[in-house]
Amino acid sequence: MHHFYRKNGSLFCEDVSLSALAEKYGTPLYVYSARTLREHYQRLDSALATLDPMLCFAMKSNSNLSVLRTLARAGAGFDIVSGGELFRVLKAGGKAARCVFAGVGKTDDEIAFALREGIFAFHVESWPELEQINRIALRLKKVAPVAARVNPNVDADTHHKITTGTYENKFGIPFEDIPAFYDKASRLAGIQLRGVQMHIGSQIISVKPFRDAAKKMLPLALTLKARHGIEYFGMGGGLGIVYDPALESGTAAWWKKQKNPPLTPETYAAAIVPVLQPLGLKIVLEPGRFISGNAGVLLASVVNVKKTAHKNFIIVDAAMNDLIRPAFYESYHQIEPLTVRRGKLIGSDVVGPICESGDTFCKERPLPPLSAGDRVAFLSAGAYGFTMSSNYNSRPRTAEILVDGKKIIVARKRETLDDLIRGER
Ligand code: LLP
Repeated sequence: MHHFYRKNGSLFCEDVSLSALAEKYGTPLYVYSARTLREHYQRLDSALATLDPMLCFAMKSNSNLSVLRTLARAGAGFDIVSGGELFRVLKAGGKAARCVFAGVGKTDDEIAFALREGIFAFHVESWPELEQINRIALRLKKVAPVAARVNPNVDADTHHKITTGTYENKFGIPFEDIPAFYDKASRLAGIQLRGVQMHIGSQIISVKPFRDAAKKMLPLALTLKARHGIEYFGMGGGLGIVYDPALESGTAAWWKKQKNPPLTPETYAAAIVPVLQPLGLKIVLEPGRFISGNAGVLLASVVNVKKTAHKNFIIVDAAMNDLIRPAFYESYHQIEPLTVRRGKLIGSDVVGPICESGDTFCKERPLPPLSAGDRVAFLSAGAYGFTMSSNYNSRPRTAEILVDGKKIIVARKRETLDDLIRGER
């Protein structure tokens, strides 16, 4: 479900050749497809239409202004986690009134900024945070709309670093504590109890954890509606995407073992709509990866190929500072040459130039023969790609391009050497 495809052996994004982009703008280079972003947003929105959904794009997955503007125009709100993210939303023409603000460590300045701009709600993660928000709201003579983030203690069955909804995790308020939390909160003059929310994790590829968590939350949400007049229920984000097409086509043994079909907006909706509809509440969702993940690729050039008796190392000019997911989560990104290369597949390690063994995109992956100067694309890099990038090893960050049909937008200029030392002395 994206607009990256091959035409006469060459990879394209919408109407634009990726080789032409790499030639003109250099590598490493992030390329996003505006049409894919819009379609993902719309497909999820329509699948959930009966729930009166408000989709708040989790912009931690991709916060480029041009990407945000594309989604704001499509109607998206935003899930934010910092004052910096709110600043970006406003710069991109998004509305504060469609922003929900999550995170366990909001600072006084961030809370005051969000209150002045009039966000939709704070997703509150503890009692001390609620008191902090109340104090700042009273000082500013405002009433802060909030929803408690509930930790439902449901295992999302995903990577441990992106599991958030069990009592092991720092997130949310334990399920059992919620009724007392709302009763106490209702006595705070600076607080309006607007909703209740949860987020159990990320890259969840089966509907079961979502359905289990929603079912567990249902009676609680009904009680809060009756007692405190809440208006919405927040399902969080977490919809997983397909990183490895072998999984999608059912050829991988692992996928065959799974009982559930790949998660699509329709399978997700079929699982949660019947559970949530009886609530009669507005439903807020925070999808990040589902919208941006397969809407972006990272292009890289092969610098050298180093063949030893033991290994075939393909050394590219992108590194873990540009795309950290393989190093951090052992995650899989499909690697495709920009122009088809024929020949026997060779078990290869694709690595970057950074001085760490972890700077490895894949190990022993069967790839066609590649040589210096060839270009490759890391697919499904639109979420948590650029936003997690850094200047490690004093590497300027990549440029970002947004393609919309034939149109090419330089969504972010490549950093220069001077950018590397800006502000230093
Ligand atoms: N809502 C909240 C409160 C979140 O913490 C997150 C993600 C989302 C929504 C969006 O989740 P999504 O729909 O994108 O799964 N860097 C990791 C993912 C970290 C997710 C953090 N929270 C990765 O590259 O896989």
